[in-house]
Amino acid sequence: MNAIISDGSVALKLRENHQNLKNSELFNILDDFEKTILKGGPDISDYRNILTSLDQLHNAMYREENGLSVKKIDIDLLRPLKSKYREFFYNVSSMQGLSLLKPHGYAGDFEVIERIHGHNVSQREEFIKWDKFFHTADAVKAVRNRSQIILDYIAAENPKSVLSVGCGSGLDIRKAVYNSTATTFTLLDNDAKAIERAKKNLQGFDDRVSFIQRNAIRAKFDDKDFSLIWSAGLFDYLNDRLAIALLTRLHAGLADGGKVFIGNFAKGQISRPYMELIGEWFLIHRTPEDMKHLLKESGYKNIEIRSDETGVNLFAVGEKDLNRESS
Ligand SMILES: C[S@@+](CC[C@H](N)C(=O)[O-])C[C@H]1O[C@@H](n2cnc3c(N)ncnc32)[C@H](O)[C@@H]1O
Repeated sequence: MNAIISDGSVALKLRENHQNLKNSELFNILDDFEKTILKGGPDISDYRNILTSLDQLHNAMYREENGLSVKKIDIDLLRPLKSKYREFFYNVSSMQGLSLLKPHGYAGDFEVIERIHGHNVSQREEFIKWDKFFHTADAVKAVRNRSQIILDYIAAENPKSVLSVGCGSGLDIRKAVYNSTATTFTLLDNDAKAIERAKKNLQGFDDRVSFIQRNAIRAKFDDKDFSLIWSAGLFDYLNDRLAIALLTRLHAGLADGGKVFIGNFAKGQISRPYMELIGEWFLIHRTPEDMKHLLKESGYKNIEIRSDETGVNLFAVGEKDLNRESS
């Protein structure tokens, strides 16, 4: 990898092929990015520059529509770099390679989330600096922060029974399971491999923890028995129509006085260009008002919006509204 000499050809070729692209600064950014690949990844002193550069590229390529990034030009500015350095970008041993390749068929799978929790850094020299950079991203810290947030909430509220929807490998809820000995937990995910991994991560708690492999969108939650329904890392993939349909079904799964606690990435979060340009990991980002709207439309009352210290995680907490249910 380090034997390849930067000849600036990626930026040059793009410039030749897209002479109508007005902002020539973009080519310099791509050239710098190539140089960073060739020197073996970013040093800490490069981090700010990379984030700013990716932000500029992202702004040039995308606009936002209903919280989702939509192409505004017909060129993928990163494509030539990804083609030239295939081995670098498409390699599951790096965090960004795993994110980009999506070996389990979807973004945000249990494996990438586990590696985030484990602060995993590749053994391969050319990925070490990139993986260290990855783990400093606010979005990545936000994923890790979820486990403390739900731990604290459950410790304070002492719910009798908790349902985690889109549980992945269960690492977000694991500390809470350890800590809350009087609470039962049900973990639901549609990915069989994620459920398998969650069972492994939570073995030894069979008396209080159970698992369901099911598509949450199609599932019915009519038993009215959960005191708390937690879902982090799932609603960011659902448009408003699906989100409201799911929240409405979850409403039926809550006991009287029960609450939902729903996470979503916030609009304006700083890691978005890195996630979307390098990892092709696209999410529906929402504002606190968007979150409130979803819960309101789905029949919840006493809605409250929270966030974590990164500001990337937004959470909407809402209580089951019995009036709404009977109407
Ligand atoms: C980003 S992970 C979040 C995992 C965990 N909750 C966390 O915050 O670390 C999202 C999970 O939602 C699951 N998922 C996506 N769509 C789903 C659906 N329709 N029904 C159930 N689970 C779903 C995925 O399989 C994945 O494990």
